[in-house]
Amino acid sequence: MDIKVLANPQEIGAAAGKIFCDFIRNKPDAVFGLATGMTPVPTYEYMANEYAKGNVSFKKLTSFNLDEYCELPREHKNSFYSFMVDNLFSKIDLDHKNINFLDGNAADPAAESERYANAIKAAGGIDIQLLGIGRNGHIGFNEPADEFSDEAFKVKLTDSTIQANSVYFDDVPMPRYAMTMGIGSIVRARKIIMIATGESKAEAVKKMVEGEINAQNPASVLRNHPDVTVFLDREAASLLSKSPESV
Ligand code: PGA
Repeated sequence: MDIKVLANPQEIGAAAGKIFCDFIRNKPDAVFGLATGMTPVPTYEYMANEYAKGNVSFKKLTSFNLDEYCELPREHKNSFYSFMVDNLFSKIDLDHKNINFLDGNAADPAAESERYANAIKAAGGIDIQLLGIGRNGHIGFNEPADEFSDEAFKVKLTDSTIQANSVYFDDVPMPRYAMTMGIGSIVRARKIIMIATGESKAEAVKKMVEGEINAQNPASVLRNHPDVTVFLDREAASLLSKSPESV
């Protein structure tokens, strides 16, 4: 795990965004795994700005998002699909037929999981996956659990996640369930960029880096992956007991 502490979310967005832009400059038909939440917003701003300046094209990109709420129309303003359209997809030249999302309204979650796994496989696997981390250590919506999941599944969200995300819901109650890529599908990405900012993530970051590797501490699994870069601001890194460079 390569951990880098940068000054603020904008610097992190530029550093992470540059990795994604450099990646697609080298491999125009790259497959990106994308994440939602407030943390990646500056990363997507950087990518959109690079596109606006003519420095990068996403024309041949294929994207897979990590997760989506259940029982929320895809076009609802709080769906993760809408988030991606607002923050990135409407601002770059991505071909919308190459956007992949889990269907949170699928009648058969197991069949939906299989469909997504097959789509990832058919695309050649995920080249580079962007991740945030939840206050409870979740990645995607893999909440603390008894065992690591593999492919996508329907998950009951924890109180911590509901509390963190319900602030964004003002017209309908926040959904209690979501479809998420499983831990297995996340760690099969060949390269992972994890970003975490702010004091509210400090405890989860400490557990990811220094805690036991188990499914109660989902992000800890990233320590077993050969190519993970973690970008933190000082607040998110504040509880680490070792200097990040030595991890
Ligand atoms: P946030 O969400 O970026 O909005 O904090 C991250 C996450 O829950 O994975």
